[in-house]
Amino acid sequence: KLTVEDLPLSGKKVLMRVDFNVPISDDGTKVEDDNRIVAALPTIKYVIEHGGKAILFSHLGRIKKEEDKPAKSLKAVAERLSELLDKPVKFVPVTEGKELEDAINELKDGEVLLVQNTRYEDVKDGEYVKRESGNDPELGKYWASLGDVYVNDAFGTAHRKHASNVGIATNMPGKAAAGFLMEKEIKFLGDAVDNPQRPFVAILGGAKVSDKIGVIDNLLDKADKIIIGGGMAYTFYAAKGIKTGDSLVEKDKIDVAKKILDKAGDKIVLPIDNVVADKFDNDANTKVVEGDVDDGWMALDIGPKSVEEFKNVLKDAKTVVWNGPMGVFEKPNFAKGTLEVGKFLGTLNDATTIVGGGDSTAAVKQLGVADQLTHISTGGGASLTYLEGKALPGIAAISEK
Ligand code: 3PG
Repeated sequence: KLTVEDLPLSGKKVLMRVDFNVPISDDGTKVEDDNRIVAALPTIKYVIEHGGKAILFSHLGRIKKEEDKPAKSLKAVAERLSELLDKPVKFVPVTEGKELEDAINELKDGEVLLVQNTRYEDVKDGEYVKRESGNDPELGKYWASLGDVYVNDAFGTAHRKHASNVGIATNMPGKAAAGFLMEKEIKFLGDAVDNPQRPFVAILGGAKVSDKIGVIDNLLDKADKIIIGGGMAYTFYAAKGIKTGDSLVEKDKIDVAKKILDKAGDKIVLPIDNVVADKFDNDANTKVVEGDVDDGWMALDIGPKSVEEFKNVLKDAKTVVWNGPMGVFEKPNFAKGTLEVGKFLGTLNDATTIVGGGDSTAAVKQLGVADQLTHISTGGGASLTYLEGKALPGIAAISEK
């Protein structure tokens, strides 16, 4: 694939798609987590240091009606980006028309401009028309006409086929390149899945099996072991005939879980014991039980024996991919399993440890173990799609070298 280093940049209008879809305060005035903005800095800096005029596009949240717009403005993001770059960032509050075109034409080499939320195009005159998220061909063509070259650094959005990623790229054949973040994400996730150093262990968690079936299917052939924790483990319990009490179980997925277990042999590792609670509350009564969970109790975290077993499986791993927490980590009394697994991953100095997916990323950051891991993906849905082995339209649209 073409990369930003292959493009002419000096004096060029460089259209850039970044993923600045970041948590923001309800009133839209404050960026609450700037991780994704920080992750895009190397490419932005490279472009402006090489004399390019950086014209940034991103979405923020979802816009379905006119009233959604004010709280989803990128203005606060422009301010945060300006602080991080330590230079002014021009912000244009519109996504098309003269105001935008004039701002672009006035840009000097090395300057940065952020265009308003691309999903403002999804609602026109009060109607939900999905021009951006439906990849309206006219919109991609229009945006492409505003620049000389295109850099896509929005890995987090790569599973979407939208006008600002796929649309612009297809209208700039031979000039649509990947940014450094995009390259890094593809390298880490791609190597892990397609060319892993072995043993390769996947850790899957989170509430629902239904979200992870594609990932399990794809990884069953590729990983040496798949550790399953979190709420989804109890649908597998049900498939094995272990009692689940009031734990989360997706009844309509028990059969799928059975088929997976039949196919997997001993590849899948389930929790041995669990922290169970008498209600879904941090202050619930709790106890640790092995196997069967009685009625009136729900499993909300993995127990200490499970942690030891998981560590045992992980200790010789050379590649680990982690997606999804081991318990209800947002509640401190049920965070221990996730924390212990995360801390242990941090000690695996010979392994490449990769975290993908919104919840697990939030978990490792909240628990303070992120710095010890090799790569924390900026993608939620995008890394899941990648782990499912599916093509990502945003990446497919980038020009070949
Ligand atoms: C994400 O956060 O996963 C991406 O920015 C995509 O956002 P979306 O799910 O609203 O398309």
